[in-house]
Amino acid sequence: MRAITYSTYGHADVLELTEQPTPKVGPDSVLVRVKAASVNPVDWKVREGYLDAIMDVDFPVVPGWDVAGVVEQVGLDTPELQVGDEVFGYVRKDVLHGGTFAEYVSAPVRTLATKPASLSFEEAAAVPLAGLTAYQTIARTGVREGQTVLVHAAAGGVGSFAVQIAAARGARVIGTASEANHDYVRALGAEPVAYGDGLAERVRALAPEGVDVVLDYVGGEALATTKDVLADGGTVASITEAAARDELGGVYAWVRPSSGDLAEVARLIDAGSVRVEVAEVFELADAADAHRASESGHVRGKVVVRV
Ligand SMILES: NC(=O)c1ccc[n+]([C@@H]2O[C@H](COP(=O)([O-])OP(=O)(O)OC[C@H]3O[C@@H](n4cnc5c(N)ncnc54)[C@H](OP(=O)(O)O)[C@@H]3O)[C@@H](O)[C@H]2O)c1
Repeated sequence: MRAITYSTYGHADVLELTEQPTPKVGPDSVLVRVKAASVNPVDWKVREGYLDAIMDVDFPVVPGWDVAGVVEQVGLDTPELQVGDEVFGYVRKDVLHGGTFAEYVSAPVRTLATKPASLSFEEAAAVPLAGLTAYQTIARTGVREGQTVLVHAAAGGVGSFAVQIAAARGARVIGTASEANHDYVRALGAEPVAYGDGLAERVRALAPEGVDVVLDYVGGEALATTKDVLADGGTVASITEAAARDELGGVYAWVRPSSGDLAEVARLIDAGSVRVEVAEVFELADAADAHRASESGHVRGKVVVRV
């Protein structure tokens, strides 16, 4: 099969289009014919070797954890799925090797759910990792109707889903973004505020009592304002810094594959509560450019790769 691979850690130019054996299919996995994949910042962080201390690697690595496609072959015991089923998933495995930037990926059934009927494969591929991250941080902080929620990096992959999921729960949402993304963030259902100097004051101007939940999807200065913007009894979740847990008593989250959570995200999408923003679609052979686009740090929504 054709696949994007890298045989050493490095910059985007280590990515090349190569011929690889079609992956074997474990007893609780299915073979997915990949229609589309998407890029998450973790893909280029992994490629650079930043996660080498916590993940074993088996080169050559096929990058990519997000997929949308069609079940081509089932495993020995996978009653959940049949050949021909349209699925999407966050296919993170314990060893870096067989990712989704390829014609086929072997995916444990626990990583997959039925593709939302209302989405194209390209839109569906944009959902799993970012949508699950938003869903799981919102679930873990217990966001509920009547609360005020501050979403940092509201225009990004994770933030775009979080704004909509929190709003669907009946929360009032404030979202940080650059001026250029304020109309976009408003359309998602949040009141936009600019990040940078004076952020805490701008949030306080909108929510004088403070916010009930901070969802941090960028870290640094944004997370550092937490104590200044949080209402009494409020809580924080971060996906970038363990300080949210260790110093602020909140949650530090690392998104987990979950069929059940992904099915719930799909339900919100098919119900019209959550839409998917695709910034740009690249061909598989241009995967390096897709990574570079994500590395800019200013993608609106998601970067997708068509296979
Ligand atoms: N722990 C986990 O499980 C987990 C899961 C997913 C992601 N992550 C991490 O979380 C981060 C966000 O992921 P993502 O996929 O959402 O990234 P992304 O899509 O690349 O985020 C891009 C967005 O960030 C915004 N942004 C940049 N600097 C900002 C700032 N200082 N304040 C507010 N917004 C800012 C940009 O908006 P403007 O263009 O308007 O500046 C852009 O829309 C990444 O570091 C990623 O590695 C962790």
